[in-house]
Amino acid sequence: MIELFRGDIAALEVDAIVNAANEALLGGGGVDGAIHRVAGPGLLAECRTLGGCPTGEARITGGYRLPARHVIHTVGPVWRGAGDEDALLAACYRNSFALAREHGLSSLAFPAISTGVYGFPPDRAAGIAVGGARAHGAGFARIVFACFDEATEALYREELASP
Ligand code: APR
Repeated sequence: MIELFRGDIAALEVDAIVNAANEALLGGGGVDGAIHRVAGPGLLAECRTLGGCPTGEARITGGYRLPARHVIHTVGPVWRGAGDEDALLAACYRNSFALAREHGLSSLAFPAISTGVYGFPPDRAAGIAVGGARAHGAGFARIVFACFDEATEALYREELASP
């Protein structure tokens, strides 16, 4: 069941929310900053024990003061037009689903990974996100795409409407 949500992913009560992090896993701005602000210092303390995360991979932590039980941190590619960005972004979704499955989670929410500071074209990213949910989302009770603005929500709605 794929759903669209408009607003702050940190407010969602799901088994895991996915964070669009950076390789240091020590917080930042955007959705990373919003998640850490709500989760509190315990999240950063646990992130410090992880030793970072390569682009395209995912790591799981507790949710701390968030309504979500866990945070899955994944690092999207910076858009440089180098050619490998699509595959790396697809890996973020694939690896986040795999980690959620490994931990027996049944509901998870994704932001529009890489489409903010990292500059990935939002329409291209929405296609990769929806494609990832269709390819790897079997068995999950709820898959939520948390869109922070109307333009992003419209792109996801369009992607979900096309087979
Ligand atoms: N809830 C949901 N979506 C959000 C929120 C929020 N609270 N805040 C921002 N967004 C949206 C942005 O509007 C964008 O569509 O998340 C998407 C991803 O944007 P960024 O957060 O900038 O993430 P990204 O482009 O992947 O860049 C990651 O930014 O914040 C730093 O530490 C982070 O270095 C990393 C980089």
